Amino acid sequence: MRIIRAKDYDDMSRKAANVISAQVIMKPDCVLGLATGSTPIGAYAQLVKWYDKGDLDFSKVTSVNLDEYKGLTRDNDQSYYYFMNHHLFSKVNINPDRTFLPDGTEKDSDKACGDYDRIIADVGGIDLQLLGLGHNGHIGFNEPADTFEAGTHCVDLTESTVKANQRFFASIDEVPRQAYTMGIQTIMLAKKVLVVVSGEDKAKIVKEAFFGPITPKVQASVLQLHRNVTVVADEAALSLVK
Ligand code: F6R
Repeated sequence: MRIIRAKDYDDMSRKAANVISAQVIMKPDCVLGLATGSTPIGAYAQLVKWYDKGDLDFSKVTSVNLDEYKGLTRDNDQSYYYFMNHHLFSKVNINPDRTFLPDGTEKDSDKACGDYDRIIADVGGIDLQLLGLGHNGHIGFNEPADTFEAGTHCVDLTESTVKANQRFFASIDEVPRQAYTMGIQTIMLAKKVLVVVSGEDKAKIVKEAFFGPITPKVQASVLQLHRNVTVVADEAALSLVK
């Protein structure tokens, strides 16, 4: 595991965008595993800037996102599809037909998850998987549990995740209680993993996840076993790590 220390959020975003753009330059037809949440927004903005300057070409890139809320339509401004479209897809020349997320409108969880695993297999797996880190150590929506789930599955979001997501909704009652998420095995099979973390509120979980015991209670801890993980974290997020 490689830890890259960034000065602050902007520096973290630029460094992460550099890693992603290197991937796109080295392999123009790569498969990017993408994440939503507040942490990667700056990196996406930086990628858009480089694209606008003519330095990046996404025309051959395929993307598969980590997760999607169950029950939200693509035009709901809280859906992860909407987020990705707003922050990246509509602003670069990625082929919309090559951008994939789990289908949040599919009521049959087994079908939604099976379909998504087939899509990931069909595109040939993930070259670079971008991840944020939840306060409870979740990656994607793989919440603290007794086991690691392999493939895409439907999860009941924990109360702490529902509360953390509340800031994006008018009221806590509107926060979806279930989501479809890529599984841990799929993430672990990505050739490279890039984790972005920012802020003092993440310092405790950074220490637990990357320097503590490997346990499904802290799902991100499994990344310690991956052979190509880069964590780009700012000083605040690394404040409890020597
Ligand atoms: C997003 C996702 C989540 C977030 C995590 C951190 O697709 O899967 O695991 O990465 O909740 O969220 P932020 O960046 O908002 O702190």
